[in-house]
Amino acid sequence: MPNTILVGAQWGDEGKGKVIDVLTAQADVIVRYQGGSNAGHTVIAEGKKYVLHLIPSGILHPGKQCVIGNGVVMDPFDLIKEIDGLREQGFDPLGRLAISDRTHMVMRWHRALDAADEARRSQERKIGTTGRGIGPAYGAKMGRTGLRVGEMLSPRFLERVRSGVEEANVTLAGWGAPALDVQEMLSVYAQAAETLKPYIADTVALVNAADRAGKSILLEGAQGTMLDIDFGTYPFVTSSNPTAGGACTGSGLSPRRVDRVVGVIKCYTTRVGAGPFPTELNDATGEHLRQKGGEFGATTGRPRRCGWFDAVVGRYSAMVNGVDFWAMTKLDVLDEQPVIKICTAYLRDDGVRYETFPADLSVLERCTPVYEEMPGWLTPTSACTRYEELPIKARAYVERLVSLIGGRLGILSVGPARETTMRLGL
Ligand code: IMP
Repeated sequence: MPNTILVGAQWGDEGKGKVIDVLTAQADVIVRYQGGSNAGHTVIAEGKKYVLHLIPSGILHPGKQCVIGNGVVMDPFDLIKEIDGLREQGFDPLGRLAISDRTHMVMRWHRALDAADEARRSQERKIGTTGRGIGPAYGAKMGRTGLRVGEMLSPRFLERVRSGVEEANVTLAGWGAPALDVQEMLSVYAQAAETLKPYIADTVALVNAADRAGKSILLEGAQGTMLDIDFGTYPFVTSSNPTAGGACTGSGLSPRRVDRVVGVIKCYTTRVGAGPFPTELNDATGEHLRQKGGEFGATTGRPRRCGWFDAVVGRYSAMVNGVDFWAMTKLDVLDEQPVIKICTAYLRDDGVRYETFPADLSVLERCTPVYEEMPGWLTPTSACTRYEELPIKARAYVERLVSLIGGRLGILSVGPARETTMRLGL
């Protein structure tokens, strides 16, 4: 398989896990390149259920090398929990899982700061984070005070832990939040370092050596384009770059070694957490999509906000990521809709038309979606295993989406099971 970047094209939860599963079968090395345990996907393999937040699901495929890249922020306790869970279910990741020595760690105080920061914000300014410490961990990285995984190998590690807790306790006190116990932190981090030592590696060298040896690399993103710190609906975003550029900075593989980009996009739109969502449906149709699509967060269990497909978002994602192939998911969720709307542009109250996503959220507030309508197919599609078996109106809908956002259709998914994934050139 050519070296491939896989990105989410909307606000996350596009069904990346299933597409990753398909592409992993053809890859040798799978690298997660950003985010942390804010992401989550559930994988069903041989009748068993696995919930993974940090470790690429490639770990469930024998013989695949999995990497937690330098662009990730890794909570050692979450990772240990995942490793233990896999071991209990018969998969030993040792030898097949490498954590970059350059990866920054999400420390206990980052979680505490995440929660305290959300609590002190006014209702309009709340981000609705997953509470996993992501923002403060990336903040520390950019502020050059973060702790990297490689430091767990250093005799000075616990000194750094001590100064980190003490500093965070000052901020927490200022925000009226309880302090963390320094001795307890020293003890739990000493233990975590011992457990994780065998997994720490120079993954930049590992990934590039694999590439030179002709192995194929899958760079796997979490979250989605509209949650990107640069290109998303700032400040209602996550603190990393889920977009294609982040795959290179988050793994150490040169952009010149990437062959193609696969964008995962749902046939409608969802968002979890606060922030603008132009095609949101606060009605029975939105509720139907939520129930039929099982739109509840994999990490937090929160109900996801649901709405029509937004081609402005799709076009923007295609542009920012350079999407070659689309993996379109969850077409079957629309089976019961007599009429399906597609947002093709935004219209500002003074008549200005936006074909691409504006940066300024106050502009977005003045915009309404311009919709076109297509007739629904009112036929179950989940049993279809070939594209040609789909109702003609369903094909027309999919082809209209592709024509609006550009690129080629590579995968179409019509249900949660593996067999419902149609391969169309990917
Ligand atoms: P954080 O990443 O926990 O800081 O949360 C920032 C925003 O990103 C919030 O709106 C979250 O709901 C959203 N978010 C973070 N991770 C995911 C994800 O995996 N899927 C969907 N939304 C996410």
